[in-house]
Amino acid sequence: MATLSVYARQVSDAGSARTQCAVLPVFAGKQPTATARELDKVLGGSIKAALDLGDFSAEKGKTLLLPGNGAIKRVLLVGCGEARKFDRPVQIAFCEAIGRSLRDCKATDALVYAGELGLGEDDSEWLCDFLARSVVTGLYRYRQTLSKPAAQPALKRLTVNAGKALSTARAKAALEAGLATGLGVNTARELANLPGNICTPTYLAKEARKLGRRYPKLSVKVLSEKQMKELGMGSLLSVSAGSDQPAQLIVMEYKGGGKGAKPYALVGKGITFDSGGISLKPGAKMDEMKFDMGGAASVFGTVHALCELGLPVNAVAIVAAAENMPSGRATKPGDVVTSMAGKTIEILNTDAEGRLVLCDALTYLGRYKPAAVVDIATLTGACVVALGSHAAGLYANNDELADELLAAGTTAHDRAWRMPLWEDYQKQLASNFADLANIGGPEAGSVTAACFLARFAEDYRWAHLDIAGAAWNSSPKGATGRPVALLTRYLRDRAGKR
Ligand code: BES
Ligand code: MN
Ligand code: ZN
Repeated sequence: MATLSVYARQVSDAGSARTQCAVLPVFAGKQPTATARELDKVLGGSIKAALDLGDFSAEKGKTLLLPGNGAIKRVLLVGCGEARKFDRPVQIAFCEAIGRSLRDCKATDALVYAGELGLGEDDSEWLCDFLARSVVTGLYRYRQTLSKPAAQPALKRLTVNAGKALSTARAKAALEAGLATGLGVNTARELANLPGNICTPTYLAKEARKLGRRYPKLSVKVLSEKQMKELGMGSLLSVSAGSDQPAQLIVMEYKGGGKGAKPYALVGKGITFDSGGISLKPGAKMDEMKFDMGGAASVFGTVHALCELGLPVNAVAIVAAAENMPSGRATKPGDVVTSMAGKTIEILNTDAEGRLVLCDALTYLGRYKPAAVVDIATLTGACVVALGSHAAGLYANNDELADELLAAGTTAHDRAWRMPLWEDYQKQLASNFADLANIGGPEAGSVTAACFLARFAEDYRWAHLDIAGAAWNSSPKGATGRPVALLTRYLRDRAGKR
């Protein structure tokens, strides 16, 4: 993706600014501000004319692009609704509307008059962050496997006049954080959008090594199936057994904090295609199971954002990558495997494979003595039934960690909702032939999947995000890049505490 630069600038005289696109917030039923009047003068009255015609309602998220004059090539009016009701949801709609409009327009730079919004210091800072992220994610288009891809976006520079409430330094820092987050979101979307025949476990391993070469604070190692076998990862390897693509355990270590500082750990489910295995899935929408590495993609995206931000923390990110396929060598229902933790697992359904790769990755992580572990997985269809696509399902064995993640999700507008992890559900995983079964029956499928993982995460503070509903959209089809923004915000908050 072409690079975008962000700038914070105080503009005292809107009329004499020089930009390909001045972005002007407009509140419904409010007298034009000094900035609006100055821009209107440059345009010879066309802003006022457009408002008087009544075609532009200033409703939240509505936009109108006007041709400019002289050094101001265009003016984009963005509706903000009523000034008294300019709350977070409207602020989000404002930023996203700008992101959409700038993608579809040929302007190479934009100057956003965010100071017109009348926000206080903290809200202004939040808005700069979310605006930069919305613009950079708004510019993203999938291109890799199209013979005639959409043209690269024209926009190269985003300048924000944040107004008097926020210092230029803080505005700039917030814009850069939003930009880094957006780049991470786009990285996750691109990896998840790639088809399963390109984005294999081996491909993901290559992408990790690439990131490692690009960022000095990041070191990458990849464990082969042979190495995993030596470690006793019989659960993870049971998933790749039916595939011609070898599993890869990708380990990315980020060193931004002190030598002794315990790392924050991320673990991503990286099933590059989930056919269900011998418990084969029905055909409808099976193509969407290329997105079953959405958790892994979000780990890559978060690592990318973390490296861009250079946060002063230590982190370790693990991707458990495998392809789930049927074959003569595939694991069968009823098979019993031994996990790295020594627990035996009866595989009653080979389509419940995510937990099988994650449990060995969680055990492997124990050696890092992590400060906290968060796994991210497109784990269960049941989570989509429970929460739809708006919230990720959050499970945690520690209330403080759960609250930190919920707060990060709210701030980043990448939300999660806590689900129960009560002992009562554990008995659904009982097996006559192994220490536990890999499925818990028809009730509370997302909960029992989390309960399975919890059995392998007893030695540290751990949380699990079931992103089966959040990771991609079905129409139009495409990855969302969630929950990169939540995770990036979580790590920024941790970095801020020291
Ligand atoms: N990757 C799927 C979960 C999934 C399904 C995510 C549909 C998004 C949309 C997972 O591996 C799976 O197949 N889970 C099974 C578990 C069941 C066999 C206990 C499911 O949800 O049906
Ligand atoms: Mn499955
Ligand atoms: Zn799956």
